[in-house]
Amino acid sequence: MIVSMKTVLDIADAENMAIGAFNVTELEGIQAVLGAAEELGQPVILQFAPVHEEYISLKTLGPIMVLMADKAKVPVCVHLDHCDNFDMIREALDMGFSSVMYDGSMLPYEKNCAYTKAAVEIAQMYGASVEAEIGAMNSEDGKAQNDCYTDPEEAGNFVKATGIDALACSFGTVHGLYTAEPKLDFDRIEKIRETIGIPIVMHGGSGVSDEDFRKCIDRGVRKINYYTYRAKAGGEYVKQKCMETDGPVFFHDITCWARDCMKEDVLHAMRVFSGCK
Ligand code: 13P
Repeated sequence: MIVSMKTVLDIADAENMAIGAFNVTELEGIQAVLGAAEELGQPVILQFAPVHEEYISLKTLGPIMVLMADKAKVPVCVHLDHCDNFDMIREALDMGFSSVMYDGSMLPYEKNCAYTKAAVEIAQMYGASVEAEIGAMNSEDGKAQNDCYTDPEEAGNFVKATGIDALACSFGTVHGLYTAEPKLDFDRIEKIRETIGIPIVMHGGSGVSDEDFRKCIDRGVRKINYYTYRAKAGGEYVKQKCMETDGPVFFHDITCWARDCMKEDVLHAMRVFSGCK
């Protein structure tokens, strides 16, 4: 069944866990995510990022995400990730998405505040939740750029001014593949949580160690965005199976190999995020 992001993050708060927010670009990804969530009996967030429109459009994949989430046996939030386009936000909400991220993190503070507030007003008309961002992600070499990290005081003011449900924060993670080991600023997470009083979102979950995930969760991270390592796991497994296979490889084999392997990857992530073995 489809629920808002606030609903799943309330569950996460009560259980001291984080909900996995898995970006999908294909049917097999949706099957992997929902299959893993149903196997563990846990809520999950299925999300689409506009940056992935080069692989598949929101128009094509969005209705499939909504349909499959609706039929799922666990609570599923269907979320639009990193969007700064109000037409697309409305389009996703019209399709049945239950949550959106308005990303004004590259804008000056005042503009980010005003546009985020406008996104909240729109989402409220649909009973949907809103995530927004303060601060900017690190470069992929993992080098600390503390000046772009989220400032706890500014974050507190931003949340009060906008009425959002969750805040994406910068504290050392990066999107995509790390070229150096991530060094996370755990104290900052704790301070932000104190000032904002709402769930913190970690972006760039791929490549963070299981131990660091748990430390972040203990300090208030409640939503973990995760994409690159799932996609890589599926791709690498298909590569290996193709090399091992004598004779022809059929495309239906490729999709099934990828789906099953990606489900294992999501299962591992969800077990870590929820603290279950
Ligand atoms: P990764 O691809 O690094 O896991 O990050 C995903 C993400 O943060 C999407 O917003």
